[in-house]
Amino acid sequence: MIVGVPKEIKTAENRVAMIPAGAEQLVAHGHKVLVQKGAGIGSGFEDEAYKAAGATVMASADEVWAESDMMVKVKEPIAEEYPRVKPDHVVFTYFHYAADETLTRAMLKSGAVTIAYETVQLETGELPLLTPMSEVAGRMAVQEGAKYLEKTFGGRGILLGGVPGVPSAEVVVLGGGVVGTHAAKMAAGLGARVIILDVSLDRLRYLDDVMPANVELVYSNRVNILEAIERADLLVGAVLLPGAKAPHLVSKEDLKLMKDGAVIVDVAVDQGGCVETVRPTTHEDPTYVVEGVIHYCVANMPGAVPRTSTLALANATFAYALKLADNGWQKACREDHALALGVNTVGEKLTCLGVAEAFGLDYTPIEVVLG
Ligand SMILES: NC(=O)c1ccc[n+]([C@@H]2O[C@H](COP(=O)([O-])OP(=O)(O)OC[C@H]3O[C@@H](n4cnc5c(N)ncnc54)[C@H](O)[C@@H]3O)[C@@H](O)[C@H]2O)c1
Repeated sequence: MIVGVPKEIKTAENRVAMIPAGAEQLVAHGHKVLVQKGAGIGSGFEDEAYKAAGATVMASADEVWAESDMMVKVKEPIAEEYPRVKPDHVVFTYFHYAADETLTRAMLKSGAVTIAYETVQLETGELPLLTPMSEVAGRMAVQEGAKYLEKTFGGRGILLGGVPGVPSAEVVVLGGGVVGTHAAKMAAGLGARVIILDVSLDRLRYLDDVMPANVELVYSNRVNILEAIERADLLVGAVLLPGAKAPHLVSKEDLKLMKDGAVIVDVAVDQGGCVETVRPTTHEDPTYVVEGVIHYCVANMPGAVPRTSTLALANATFAYALKLADNGWQKACREDHALALGVNTVGEKLTCLGVAEAFGLDYTPIEVVLG
C-alpha cells in the first residue's frame, strides 16, 4: 500500500502523523511511504530522517494526496484540503465530525473511507487514540489556566497553589475522564483545591481511590455544577459523549455566577464545548472574554507541544495504521472491532450514530457495510 503523510496546515499545527521509526516499519512490511517535504520539521524530524527510514519525500501536498492509497494525518482536513480527498482514499486522522457539519458533508461527498482516531473504541469503552492527546491537553489545561489567571493576561491575579497563609485557587473540572484526570492531577500537584464532577459513579469511585486529598469528587448534576462554578477560579471543560456533540452544562446566564477574571479552559471545544459561550480559538489568538470570564478554547491544544504530542500520538496510532496498510481497511476492521468503530464514513454512507444524530443524517451501521 502507498501511505501518505502530508504536512499539517491547520493554524500553528506542528504535529506530524508518522515519525521516521514508523515509516521504517511500514517500509519493512513492503509498503511505500510518501512524506511531504517539511512535514516533520515542527516536531523535530528532518526530511533526511524520513529518507534514511526508506520513505520518499515529496515536494507538495497535492502529489502526496494524489499518489497515496491511505492518508495518515493529525487534524481533520480543512477546506483547502477537501478537493484532495478522492473516493479511493482511506483517510486516518482526527475528524471530530459531530462539531462540524460542513466537514461531514464534504467527506461524505468525497466518497472516501474516513476513519476517525477519536471513535476507535476498545470493549472496555476506552478510546485508545484519543487518550494520548487527552493526556497532553488535560495537563496543558492547567498550565494555560494558570497563565491566564495572571493579572497581565487579564485574569484574577491568583496563584493556583497559593502560599502558606493564603488560600490556593479553586479548580473545577467538568468530566473526570482522561482530560479531567490529568488536569486534576496537575492542579492538585500545584496545590490548588480541586473539584471533579462526573456522571459516572464508577469513575468517581475510582478517582476517589487514586486522587490526593485536595481533590473532591462530586456527582455532576445541575445543582452541583452551579455551586461549583460559583467557587471556581479555573473551570476546565472535559466532558465527552463519544462521537456526539458535547452537552452544554454551563449556559451564558450561568457565567454571571462566576467570579470576574475567572478562567474557563474548555478542552471539549473540539466536540462543541460543554460551556454554551465556547467557540473554537487558535494558538495565535487563544482567548476572549464573556461576562468577565476569560475563555480559552483552542481546539488543537497538543499542537503547541509538538515534540511531546507527536511521539505520544504516533505511539498509539501506529499499530492501527500498520494493520490498515497490511490488510486493507475492510479486513483490518473485520478483525478488529475497535478499529471498525473508528470508521465514520464509507463513500456516501455515514457509519457513526452520534454524527448522524447530530445532523439528522441517515445512519448505516458499520457491520452492515462490512457485511
Ligand atoms: N482541545 C483539544 O486540544 C483536545 C485534546 C484532546 C481531547 N480533547 C477533547 O476533550 C474532551 C474529553 O476527552 P476525554 O478523553 O477526557 O474523554 P473521556 O471519555 O475520557 O472523559 C469524558 C468524561 O465525561 C464524563 N461525562 C459525560 N457526561 C457528563 C456530564 N453531564 N457531567 C460530567 N461529566 C460527564 C464521562 O463520564 C467521562 O468520564 C473530548 O471532547 C476530547 O475530544 C480536546
